[in-house]
Amino acid sequence: VTKVIKIDLNNIDEKKLLSAAEALKEGKIVAFPTETVYGLGANALDSSAVEQIFKAKGRPSDNPLIVHIADKEKVCELAESIPEKAAVLMDRLWPGPLTLVFKKSSIIPRIITAGLDTVAVRMPEHPVARELIRLAAVPVAAPSANVSGRPSTTTARHVLQDLDGKIEIVVDAGSSRVGLESTVLDITVDPPVLLRPGGVTPAQIEDIIGHIEIDKTILGKVSMDNIPKCPGMKYKHYAPKAQVTLVKGKDIIRQVEKICELAVDRRSKGKRVGICATDQTISYYKDYESKSMGDRNRPETIASSIFSLLREFDDMGVDVILAEAVDENGVGLAIMNRMIKAAGYDIIQAD
Ligand code: TXA
Ligand code: MG
Repeated sequence: VTKVIKIDLNNIDEKKLLSAAEALKEGKIVAFPTETVYGLGANALDSSAVEQIFKAKGRPSDNPLIVHIADKEKVCELAESIPEKAAVLMDRLWPGPLTLVFKKSSIIPRIITAGLDTVAVRMPEHPVARELIRLAAVPVAAPSANVSGRPSTTTARHVLQDLDGKIEIVVDAGSSRVGLESTVLDITVDPPVLLRPGGVTPAQIEDIIGHIEIDKTILGKVSMDNIPKCPGMKYKHYAPKAQVTLVKGKDIIRQVEKICELAVDRRSKGKRVGICATDQTISYYKDYESKSMGDRNRPETIASSIFSLLREFDDMGVDVILAEAVDENGVGLAIMNRMIKAAGYDIIQAD
């Protein structure tokens, strides 16, 4: 079984955390909290340790990993060069939920980058993540700590749901604040390209370095002529066991009406229905097993709850999930990117 090490985020017990750091040094895999989601870490310079991550998650080997560091200066060892715009972003937004893709240095093992000549690097803000990496004294490769294809994990309990017995240790420091993965920005090109929306919004980045391009697969369907540059984005992703349908529409009331109509239909076919509502609409769904993702006016509340909500519906055993779409502004872009993939592109327009 997997050992759980509980750490108080406001009063980090170094001794307890040291055993997790030692395990990392010894080539074992350790799940740990970050401010975005839980990560499944291994010593990034040890290929056989990194290989265990792919095995435990069932992750396709052509999907590269993010390397996590605890000190900004360490990026110089991992990247071949640091473009000026990257330096400015690192100065302003690190530590935090921003991953930068650089030309890789020669110390990066091939297994990390899946054969690409670039490497993704992130300095997490979470104090436990940073302290763990510092104690391990190695860069830490870490994808989200979920079975490949499932919703990412934002608590240690969710990590155990997916990976108990498959990993050495999970460090438990409570729920992840952001709830969605980091923003991935390719800084090897100019203008830089947003490959995955996340905790840092495009506007935040553009305020600092000016115009960036947005990879068009972020909200669109992946096809032969629309292949994402972020390899991970092409797979079925973030999916609960239930079948998700996303209902879009400019008018919230039309969205609600459409969801109720679909709910009646699914029920008549013997399906157990779950509804992902918002604080503004939850009262319309009293006849159904409905949960609020959060407040439409504060999308960060939706970001922080969406993955755990999808898992709650799985625990309840619903067959289908009908979900309200939200505005694509700010962190809403990241929310919709995850929801569209959770729905496997099953999107219904309400108006
Ligand atoms: O918030 C996060 O980023 C979390 C926490 C644990 O830090 N990690 C995470 O890792 O989400 P993962 O493996 O689930 O997602 C990494 C994404 C994938 O879509 C992958 O394809 C992309 O980053 N990626 C990694 N290296 C890349 C590279 N060299 N070029 C382009 N995309 C890359
Ligand atoms: Mg992931």
